[in-house]
Amino acid sequence: MKQFKRTTVTSALPYANGPVHIGHLAGVYVPADIYVRYLRLRGEEVLFIGGSDEHGVPITIKAKKEGVTPQDIVDRYHSLIKRSFEEFGISFDVYGRTTSKIHAETASAFFKTINDKGGFIEQESEQYYDEEAGQFLADRYITGTCPHCGNEGAYGDQCEKCGTSLNPTDLINPRSAISGSKPVMRRTKHWYLPLDRHEAWLRQWILEGHKEWRPNVYGQCKSWLDMGLQPRAVSRDLDWGIPVPVAGAEGKVLYVWFDAPIGYISNTKELLPDSWEKWWKDPDTRLVHFIGKDNIVFHCIVFPAMLKAEGSYILPDNVPANEFLNLEGDKISTSRNWAVWLHEYLADFPGKQDVLRYVLTANAPETKDNDFTWRDFQARNNNELVAIYGNFVNRALVLTHKFFEGKVPACGTLDDYDRQTLAEFADVKAEMERLLDNFRFRDAQKEAMNLARIGNKYLADTEPWKLAKTDMERVATIMNLALQIAANLAIAFEPFLPFSSKKLRDLLHMETFRWADLGKTDLLPAGLQLAKPELLFEKIDDAPIQAQIDRLAEIKKANELAAHKADPVKAPVAFEDFEKVDIRVGTVLECKPVPKSKKLLQFRLDDGMGGRTICSGIAQSYPHPEELVGTQVCFIANFAPRQMMGIESQGMILSAVNADGKLVLVQPRAKVAEGSCVG
Ligand code: 2FM
Ligand code: ZN
Repeated sequence: MKQFKRTTVTSALPYANGPVHIGHLAGVYVPADIYVRYLRLRGEEVLFIGGSDEHGVPITIKAKKEGVTPQDIVDRYHSLIKRSFEEFGISFDVYGRTTSKIHAETASAFFKTINDKGGFIEQESEQYYDEEAGQFLADRYITGTCPHCGNEGAYGDQCEKCGTSLNPTDLINPRSAISGSKPVMRRTKHWYLPLDRHEAWLRQWILEGHKEWRPNVYGQCKSWLDMGLQPRAVSRDLDWGIPVPVAGAEGKVLYVWFDAPIGYISNTKELLPDSWEKWWKDPDTRLVHFIGKDNIVFHCIVFPAMLKAEGSYILPDNVPANEFLNLEGDKISTSRNWAVWLHEYLADFPGKQDVLRYVLTANAPETKDNDFTWRDFQARNNNELVAIYGNFVNRALVLTHKFFEGKVPACGTLDDYDRQTLAEFADVKAEMERLLDNFRFRDAQKEAMNLARIGNKYLADTEPWKLAKTDMERVATIMNLALQIAANLAIAFEPFLPFSSKKLRDLLHMETFRWADLGKTDLLPAGLQLAKPELLFEKIDDAPIQAQIDRLAEIKKANELAAHKADPVKAPVAFEDFEKVDIRVGTVLECKPVPKSKKLLQFRLDDGMGGRTICSGIAQSYPHPEELVGTQVCFIANFAPRQMMGIESQGMILSAVNADGKLVLVQPRAKVAEGSCVG
């Protein structure tokens, strides 16, 4: 393995069009921060780059909606996001922005270098154009139906429902997001990065040279490479972005995904105008990108191809991408307000940054999507942070004050149990290093918590409070050892829980604070005066947790209403016409999937009239149809029978769509006689 001199760590630049939420923190910023703090504590040379991504279509759409300029939007959210990161202790060396002057210069120069080397192709093509608005419809300016999953609100660059990347021309029934009109095709010229030319070295570099990358990252790269790479446009017809820096490119800007990763470089330049190059161009520098899984292709394929085409930069050594964090079982969604926003969290749980950091790392989506629930948050706080870590530290401090006036007692002769305890944490440093070096933060944090468990068990088993009557020398040894474990905890937890580590370090008046000291038992000299005990963590009651759960339930309800509020109300009908529809209640006798159909369920109903069979297209919303047996449903009883997948369906069962697109059966709240009329 190559030895590097220093490490450049980047974390994805969040779009400055909304606040940041727990998904951002869990997926990218907490792991990146843990890694950087660990390297710093080891005394390594490391630079941690962050910043806001301030270009792209969604920002302009938001600005239009609010009647303000895109600059207003990014100014607002850049400050909010920056503050949230500071509040959560994300220890960037620099947090820049892609609307800065230095970024425009850096990105333009980068483009020009590649262009001068013949690294782009210029090509004309037909693209969607909105005649009413008088502009081309890039990316999210075009919406339509996803050809893969039928989602009617898919965008020109991606379907958010099924996650597929799309081209605008893939959409069925495309519409302009600006005017709602049907777009026409118009010719336009763009610059393309010919990824096909880079395919051979990328294959070799990733598939042969980086087998150690996480399986999710390696797998995604392999599948892109196996599909064959195509040229990608790096410019857009837009008025928000960095102008394409060549003659004859009026009205065209760099594509946001071209300029954003260059932002890592510009932000380094902003911080270190004279020495930035060593962080980006010296082969002894190790480059690591922390990102979410939706950014893998850009950081593992497109950006490396850009760096290679430019010619003077190093390539990433690792890209530890995380999967997604869900919230209470549902995908986090900004547009549906299904999120825990960082600034709101801090308003509700002031001072509890480390609790969230802890829970997000304990549940980190390192290998698969994971779920954040408020009950788990409460349990991890109360049963782990308070009951194990906090309790141990507090007992060690309180007992030292009780028996030794708060001074570290001298260690006497160790007995077998002491030695056994020491042996239990002798390898904590090596084990944590193995995990942290391999980006396994979740398990590394578990190791730190294990150390606290060892400490807790040691005090519980040795019971110094009982020995105090008979053997103060033994008590001194026990308390010395317990305090040394507490000092170790301050070091072991520093990358994960920096606020609590700082507090503990202050309580223990620790002078040295280095990773190299982890595992040592002479961190606190005998006679050292400790501060008055203070709790590191507090129990969280049910009430504030329930308040969060209730808030989410309300959001869910509002989303369900909003999902249909926009449906136009149909033309009025006469009461007599309504009365022609015979809606009845029936009890489900049998319910099973229709063979070879993904959508249909076959119901047998007791309809009070001798029974009937109805097929209903709700299979995807009811994966366990047998559970419906015995419940009552509403159905239209006077539809002419029709054949569905070879079965005669005698009516239609009523259901409604909820905010997640799931169908929910319309069912009476109390049991009624089969065949009862609804009206
Ligand atoms: O997905 C996103 O939120 C992008 N704004 C990430 C950009 S990362 C980098 F390239 F700047
Ligand atoms: Zn889709």
